[in-house]
Amino acid sequence: MSNSRFRLLSLVSILSLLITATTNFVAAQRCRPDQTETLKRFKNEFAFSSSCTDDAYFLSGVTCDNVTGAVTVLRLPGGCLRGTLRDNSSLFELSHLRYLNLSFNNFASSPLPSSFGQLHNLEVLLLSSNGFLGQVPSSVRNLTKLTQLQLAHNKLTGDLTSLLQNLTNLTRLDVSSNQFYGTIPSFLFTLPSMSYLDLSENHLSGSLEIPFYLPNLRVLKLYHLNITHQIDLRIFSSLESLTYLALSGNSLTPTSVYSDIDFAESLRVLLLSECNIYEFPRFVKSLKNLEYLYLSHNRIKGNVPEWLWSLPRLTSLDLRNNSFTGFEGSSDHLLANSSVQVLDVAYNCFNGSLPDPPRFIINYSVWNNSFTGEIPLSTCNRTFLDVLDLSYNKFTGLIPPCLSNISIVNLRKNKLEGNIPDEFYTGSSTQTLDLGYNQLTGKLPRSLLNCSLLKFVSVDHNRIDDSFPFWLKALPSLKVLTLRSNRFHGPISPPDGPLAFPKLQILEISHNGFTGRLPRNYFENWTNTSLKPEDEEKMYMGDFVTDKFNYEDTLDLQYKGLYMEQGKVLTLYSAIDFSGNRLEGEIPESIGLLKALIALNLSNNSFTGRIPMSFANVSELESLDLSKNRLSGEIPQELRRLSFLGYIDVSDNQLTGEIPQGTQITGQPKSSFEGNLGLCGLPLEERCFTENTTSTDEAEEEEEEGGVLKWRAVAIGYGPGVLFGLVIGHVFALYKPGGWFIKSYGQNRLKGIGSL
Ligand SMILES: *[C@@H]1O[C@H](CO)[C@@H](O)[C@H](O)[C@H]1NC(C)=O
Ligand SMILES: *[C@@H]1O[C@H](CO)[C@@H](O)[C@H](O)[C@H]1NC(C)=O
Ligand SMILES: *[C@@H]1O[C@H](CO)[C@@H](O)[C@H](O)[C@H]1NC(C)=O
Ligand SMILES: *[C@@H]1O[C@H](CO)[C@@H](O)[C@H](O)[C@H]1NC(C)=O
Ligand SMILES: *[C@@H]1O[C@H](CO)[C@@H](O)[C@H](O)[C@H]1NC(C)=O
Ligand SMILES: *[C@@H]1O[C@H](CO)[C@@H](O)[C@H](O)[C@H]1NC(C)=O
Ligand SMILES: *[C@@H]1O[C@H](CO)[C@@H](O)[C@H](O)[C@H]1NC(C)=O
Ligand SMILES: *[C@@H]1O[C@H](CO)[C@@H](O)[C@H](O)[C@H]1NC(C)=O
Ligand SMILES: *[C@@H]1O[C@H](CO)[C@@H](O)[C@H](O)[C@H]1NC(C)=O
Ligand SMILES: *[C@@H]1O[C@H](CO)[C@@H](O)[C@H](O)[C@H]1NC(C)=O
Ligand SMILES: *[C@@H]1O[C@H](CO)[C@@H](O)[C@H](O)[C@H]1NC(C)=O
Ligand SMILES: *[C@@H]1O[C@H](CO)[C@@H](O)[C@H](O)[C@H]1NC(C)=O
Repeated sequence: MSNSRFRLLSLVSILSLLITATTNFVAAQRCRPDQTETLKRFKNEFAFSSSCTDDAYFLSGVTCDNVTGAVTVLRLPGGCLRGTLRDNSSLFELSHLRYLNLSFNNFASSPLPSSFGQLHNLEVLLLSSNGFLGQVPSSVRNLTKLTQLQLAHNKLTGDLTSLLQNLTNLTRLDVSSNQFYGTIPSFLFTLPSMSYLDLSENHLSGSLEIPFYLPNLRVLKLYHLNITHQIDLRIFSSLESLTYLALSGNSLTPTSVYSDIDFAESLRVLLLSECNIYEFPRFVKSLKNLEYLYLSHNRIKGNVPEWLWSLPRLTSLDLRNNSFTGFEGSSDHLLANSSVQVLDVAYNCFNGSLPDPPRFIINYSVWNNSFTGEIPLSTCNRTFLDVLDLSYNKFTGLIPPCLSNISIVNLRKNKLEGNIPDEFYTGSSTQTLDLGYNQLTGKLPRSLLNCSLLKFVSVDHNRIDDSFPFWLKALPSLKVLTLRSNRFHGPISPPDGPLAFPKLQILEISHNGFTGRLPRNYFENWTNTSLKPEDEEKMYMGDFVTDKFNYEDTLDLQYKGLYMEQGKVLTLYSAIDFSGNRLEGEIPESIGLLKALIALNLSNNSFTGRIPMSFANVSELESLDLSKNRLSGEIPQELRRLSFLGYIDVSDNQLTGEIPQGTQITGQPKSSFEGNLGLCGLPLEERCFTENTTSTDEAEEEEEEGGVLKWRAVAIGYGPGVLFGLVIGHVFALYKPGGWFIKSYGQNRLKGIGSL
């Protein structure tokens, strides 16, 4: 996060308005006692998060006029204030306020107080990402001195034109991601000093008619306006200072897209994703200062033009999800001299060999195409390469021996063969290694031990012939290990005590030839799986966020009897799959220590003995498959306590006795209990001797509650489908140009970046 902030700053300085706005207010800290009193009362209106309770910290954002002692500037750190901002708040007594920044606090879905209208000296009012809700009070129209107004990322509504009509001194306006309605306020385009305008993601209608003479307009963001009219690109050519134009999610007049438009030479960012474009826009050729070009989610066919690679400043190019079939020009070195650092051509129809990546490439993302031939060795020569995603193609040959300095390597679903090169050196930067679904042979390279940052290792569906990699326990950050469907063999229980991977959350070793028994304490040291998650933090495991792009690990999940390809996995998801091996002996009692375990699959082995009673302690368990073993005895009645258990399969064992009644267990299909020696009770038809009608009624009642089961731990994502705005899996976002792109923060960080 700190990285991206850093980047934000540099962008701010480009458009240096913000800085002038704040320096105007620099004044001595001396405040009048009554003003300090008012501030303290204001502070006491809120609950503070623990990191913000310090008075000094609170007051560091306060500036008073050095003559009158009145508070003129108030900047409160984001995330500190929590609670309702009321109409009678002491804040509104500070009538000399000229600068107020309360962005990124949490005002608990309350309305925007109409008392803001009393602060009629305000020149800067920043209220983005605060959870404000509902109609913007009309008193805000009184704030005619405003030069900057930010209301982005709330749920505010109102007719935008009448709200803003009298705020004619505005130079920076951001009302994006709200529910404002009405026609696009065209008068904004008549304000000559306007320099930053963001109306994106509102319910605006009408057409964009711009009586342009806006010599100062630098940033114009109008994505996802939901207007029915097509936008004529040519109208923007009169904006002579334009550096940033975002029109993604609107449809453009075709004739304008394919004509020669003279955009301002200053244009650096052009975002035209989801604009229904079907031919590569020629006018781009003349944009000599262009750095970011997004044309993703259009329908562009044919070749990527050769001239694109000679745009001197182009650093980020997103052509994802079009119908490109190739690159114009035949040389393998076509891209080599290009200045592009982030290149995303995923989800197209490229075939033939993959060109050498640009010399300064950081992120080379070409997944989901039909590239053939070998992976170019030149990738080994690209010192800045951080993400190499060639997955879902038809690459053949060997894996290049240079993965060690690439953070993310994804070669999944190709036709690669040979060994995994044993070339990982000390200090390797590899974090994610996904080599699944190839034809790889040999052993897991022992040099992986040099990758101390490694978090995610997936070699599933290959022909790797090795014993269980106990040695990987030395990796301090390993969270996911997937060995499914290979030729692994031997015991999975180390000779010297319990298995102890310090951070492991997902262990998927199904369909191999593992054998042996598991000692009672087998699960004793699974620290990460033993800690019950504190809250349902909706972060995804394996997020890789840099200042230029995000990458997310995805995983094939088998969960509740369903199979999900390329699911995105929440950080709290924890799963074990040992199915399809030849494990025997009892299920270790220590399974009960895995409080955070959500899915367990031990099916298709030779486990014997009873189902341990300690299962009842695995309180987060949602999916349990013990089918096709030789388990005997009764199903412990304690399993009734597992309130999230939505899927259970114990079929084909030697179980007897009554199925625990009155729980969601009885809501399972019969097949989940069939093939046993003597089970009885619901959902089977066999009645138990002890059964009576009361318990049956109860069962049905609770069964309905069970239906509300949360699928919370698993992924929302199914590849290869990508939702509009919420992009799932893989490298989905290029650099977020423009520091003001507030969505890149906090909870909203993942949302919408793709449609940027
Ligand atoms: C008050 O601050 C302004 C702006 O920083 C400065 O120009 C002025 O000299 C200061 N006045 C006094 C009395 O310190
Ligand atoms: C307002 O405050 C927030 C939270 O501290 C900060 O992130 C943001 O950059 C500030 N906005 C401006 C324009 O200074
Ligand atoms: C503000 O109004 C609320 C009720 O709307 C009341 O509970 C509270 O005491 C008032 N606060 C002040 C400072 O008057
Ligand atoms: C502010 O706006 C309200 C409502 O629009 C109005 O009644 C009031 O007179 C205005 N106050 C000032 C000082 O302009
Ligand atoms: C608007 O800006 C101009 C020029 O900076 C200034 O003279 C005028 O007083 C401002 N209007 C208001 C209502 O503050
Ligand atoms: C805008 O200001 C004018 C006079 O300055 C006033 O008559 C008009 O009612 C105001 N409009 C709105 C929408 O507040
Ligand atoms: C977009 O506009 C259409 C009608 O033009 C409307 O039905 C739809 O609800 C709008 N969508 C949003 C998100 O406002
Ligand atoms: C590709 O873009 C189209 C819109 O042009 C969209 O409907 C579709 O969902 C996108 N598919 C992917 C995989 O992103
Ligand atoms: C790349 O640049 C080098 C040196 O400037 C030049 O020799 C080479 O021909 C260029 N390659 C391409 C494909 O343009
Ligand atoms: C790697 O780069 C060096 C120097 O730039 C060059 O001589 C060599 O041919 C390159 N190797 C590959 C495989 O591209
Ligand atoms: C397992 O945990 C126990 C107690 O928590 C500890 O004493 C033991 O050293 C651990 N064993 C390993 C192999 O980490
Ligand atoms: C039925 O079962 C319930 C609970 O298990 C018990 O309280 C009740 O006495 C039983 N009724 C009969 C008729 O056996």
